[in-house]
Amino acid sequence: MASTVLAAAAALLVLLLAVFAVADAREAWTPAAKMAKAASVPAVIVFGDSTVDTGNNNVIGTTLKSNFPPYGRDLGGVGPTGRFCNGRLPPDFISESLGLPPLVPAYLDPAYGIADFARGVCFASAGTGLDNATAGVLAVIPLWKEVEYFKEYQRRLRRHAGHAAARRIVRDALYIVSIGTNDFLENYFLFVTGRFKQFTVDEFEDFLVAQAADFLTAIHRLGARRVTFAGLSAIGCLPLERTLNIVRGGCIEEYNKVARDYNVKVNAMMSKLRSSLPGLKLAYIPVYEDMLNLINNPSTLGLENVEQGCCATGLFEMGYLCNEKSPLTCPDADKYFFWDSFHPTEKVNRFFANSTLQICLRELLS
Ligand SMILES: *[C@@H]1O[C@H](CO)[C@@H](O)[C@H](O)[C@H]1NC(C)=O
Ligand SMILES: *[C@@H]1O[C@H](CO)[C@@H](O)[C@H](O)[C@H]1NC(C)=O
Repeated sequence: MASTVLAAAAALLVLLLAVFAVADAREAWTPAAKMAKAASVPAVIVFGDSTVDTGNNNVIGTTLKSNFPPYGRDLGGVGPTGRFCNGRLPPDFISESLGLPPLVPAYLDPAYGIADFARGVCFASAGTGLDNATAGVLAVIPLWKEVEYFKEYQRRLRRHAGHAAARRIVRDALYIVSIGTNDFLENYFLFVTGRFKQFTVDEFEDFLVAQAADFLTAIHRLGARRVTFAGLSAIGCLPLERTLNIVRGGCIEEYNKVARDYNVKVNAMMSKLRSSLPGLKLAYIPVYEDMLNLINNPSTLGLENVEQGCCATGLFEMGYLCNEKSPLTCPDADKYFFWDSFHPTEKVNRFFANSTLQICLRELLS
């Protein structure tokens, strides 16, 4: 009798332990959480342009802003933040997947301080580029200044956390770099800076890739070790470029070819840096291929429109032209690839983030 009760109690205990183990596996040990623990990423640190700017342009003297509705429409109670999206950007999703905050704060946002930035910080500025001249077009933060902010950040981090902890955060952080589109679309092909007279397209690609190499070398010298660098997307397929291609229709193939050629050069440059910069783990993010896959197979993500933006007519509006008064803004951004005429919707950003995370897991965090 007693032994039956004991056996039953033991069986119950085993059952309870199994139930708790399953619950634990579901909640605390999702693959991403496991990965974050294994890789122990203390922070996500972001450089680049509007594809990753979480709000720095709000506080600088540029006209290129997005801190008003309907931007941020699907960002829960948060609302517009200066992200060029209806919701979150890839670095936000990546940060959350690594067990870090769901929004990566902009370095210039006065609502945040060094305690926040110790777990993630964004130096990116919409409209900027690898070429200094690109940032000049719309008076945004040039890439060299993003690096200066990174240095200042490290000084603040040392005061906040101490030298050893600051060094560890900088070394183990995941760096996300996304830049280059504006060098072509806002600078070279708009004929606004003189670069089109100074360089052939081929030479300009080489110039940009050299700038990218200098930048990556600079952040490596400053302690960065786990770095992702995004290739150019299919820039000829952005809605604004499709609109400019009104006569022929469709994507501007000439621009897409430039993106492919530039990406080949970027890959070669990155291979060289991997073998010349000690301890650097550097992953290339194939945004071009990811984007064309989605444009060619929109139903895999439940997309119904991959040609126009959701905001306003979807043909040319972004920044101030995409506002609450613009008519025709679509009710459900999840059916669209593009939020405005230049930038993906949150749904597509989530997809890009996942793709980037898989690469990080294989190449940087293993
Ligand atoms: C870009 O500007 C910075 C700051 O003035 C300067 O140090 C750097 O050499 C410039 N880069 C090029 C390629 O001119
Ligand atoms: C993330 O990407 C992986 C590999 O590409 C895929 O198997 C997985 O289904 C994706 N997850 C989500 C949530 O999209």
